Amino acid sequence: MSEQETAAPNTPSEERPYGGTPAGPKRVRTRHFQNAKANGIKITGLTSYDMLSATIFDEAGIDFLLVGDSAGNNVFGYDTTLPVRVDDLIPLTRAVAQAAKRAFVVADMPFGSYETDVQDALHTAVRFMKETGAHAVKLEGGRRSAKQIRRIVDAGIPVMAHIGYTPQSEHQLGGHIIQGRGDSGIENLLADAHAIEDAGAFAVVLEMVPTDAAAQVTEELAIPTIGVGAGPHVDGQLLVWTDWAGFTTGRVPRFVRQYADLKGVLGDAARRYKDDVEQGEYPGPEHSY
Ligand code: KIV
Repeated sequence: MSEQETAAPNTPSEERPYGGTPAGPKRVRTRHFQNAKANGIKITGLTSYDMLSATIFDEAGIDFLLVGDSAGNNVFGYDTTLPVRVDDLIPLTRAVAQAAKRAFVVADMPFGSYETDVQDALHTAVRFMKETGAHAVKLEGGRRSAKQIRRIVDAGIPVMAHIGYTPQSEHQLGGHIIQGRGDSGIENLLADAHAIEDAGAFAVVLEMVPTDAAAQVTEELAIPTIGVGAGPHVDGQLLVWTDWAGFTTGRVPRFVRQYADLKGVLGDAARRYKDDVEQGEYPGPEHSY
């Protein structure tokens, strides 16, 4: 493997021939996640559900794009991710995968598409890989999903695991509750983390866990940890883009830093447009044939 190929995903762009330079983007791959951890370089991810946002994030150098089942809340208007189906996510994932030239694209396996048995899990993962162009799949659960992860990895499909707070288990967990608290919480988290690593996952999302617990998992695992509300001592960060960009109409978790105010910008644009139409200011001569 050449030195160029082993460079980590978020080294400065001039040293990053696979990342958004005039030389042309090369694809982020699972080995770059591993290299990033080995070199102490942070990995950056966002969710994306469509071609336009995927193009912008890809060109900005975001390392990976997750087509999350959070599309349930952010695209389809559900209260939870539970109703989301594989058939709902396939077209969204295809759009993101077509748009992303450099970013690694991860397809989220929705509730009900992998829990029932290992063959179901493999079938869903194969559908995502075949029908969308994604580079990996993600599924929730630690020890309880280890068999599914092993089977999918054995079929040649990279798996990103997801432990800590797992939104598909919201009702069992009793709501949006931080996981991994106290001695038994940390023990459970570590047991889940080791189970998914042993099963062959290439990375793991740690959602809503205390900073110390996330740091301990990061220390003990050889694979990179990606935090979503897991503090700074992890190997990378992931945020739901609509929360991050101030586009969300609902509750935004405390761990999110909002980097834009899209809701304000679009709301203002819509009000000005309506005024212009009502006042006869739009279209003007420059917009008319
Ligand atoms: O669906 C999603 O966006 C997710 C992240 C919150 C990890 O699973």
